[in-house]
Amino acid sequence: MAKKILGFVGSKRRLGNSDVLVRTVLSKCADMEAEVEIIYLDELDIRICRGCLACAFKGACVQKDDMTELISKMLKADGLVIAAPTYLFSPSGIIKTMIDRALMMSSYLDEVDISRPAVSITVAGNKLWNPLGVEFLNQFCFAFGFSVIDYLEAYAPGPGEVTLNDDSMVSAEQLGVKLLDPEAKRRQPDGYQCPVCFSRCVRISDKDNAQCAFCLTESSIKEDRLEVKENQESFWTPDHRKRHLAEWIFVTKDRFMENRQQIKENLSKFRNK
Ligand SMILES: Cc1cc2nc3c(=O)[nH]c(=O)nc-3n(C[C@H](O)[C@H](O)[C@H](O)COP(=O)(O)O)c2cc1C
Repeated sequence: MAKKILGFVGSKRRLGNSDVLVRTVLSKCADMEAEVEIIYLDELDIRICRGCLACAFKGACVQKDDMTELISKMLKADGLVIAAPTYLFSPSGIIKTMIDRALMMSSYLDEVDISRPAVSITVAGNKLWNPLGVEFLNQFCFAFGFSVIDYLEAYAPGPGEVTLNDDSMVSAEQLGVKLLDPEAKRRQPDGYQCPVCFSRCVRISDKDNAQCAFCLTESSIKEDRLEVKENQESFWTPDHRKRHLAEWIFVTKDRFMENRQQIKENLSKFRNK
């Protein structure tokens, strides 16, 4: 059966750089007999998280927007490519809006196959002004149940200008090939990237230890790289997510209920202002 590859574009620009690169990846996948679908995220009704936690406590989001269908498409996909432009040093807002909604995945932790590959593409005008593109886009992929195997950082300010950059265009094609190759080797993290999510944002705890600021993985600092510490479990594995729900999110309810009266009294002075 043909593999299904989803492509998400996080830019409003049609024929912009994110669009062109996702289409390049998908077109390569289609050449290799995959079934592909491109989704322009700005065309969907994706609302901001209300913070009610109904997705975790009751198993479904109260908002009747396009997120439920999008998650169902993601669960059925065999691979994902996502691209977004950099706006003010991080990916466009739709990316974070969707990451905020990823607690909706709580209902699907028993069925999600996190070995499915994802590739992310961050597009920016200038290499010096894109400190968080890879980080957020990879977090998106993990949060929705994929494993990031590779990513591309493309630099082109004008819409479609990336087509002048042969290296980026060839890399996008290669990402397409990689998405469909079960034997494809995961990209090697370079320098001091987090070995799990490729983030370059790590907190140095002391001269020997660091923690990824995106996936929270703790690593030892070696001469030229970070090495994941023993017994580290990725934040995004279904088991860890289930434990996070059981040991943190669900217990906040009892604590809140115990103190509800006091909180109500404290809040009374904020009402009707
Ligand atoms: C509002 C706005 C903010 C931007 N901020 C940054 C930035 O912080 N760093 C950067 O390198 N490029 C920045 N850019 C440039 C875009 O990331 C770049 O044009 C990118 O190619 C757009 O991708 P797209 O064609 O897929 O929309 C910005 C562009 C806009 C319109």
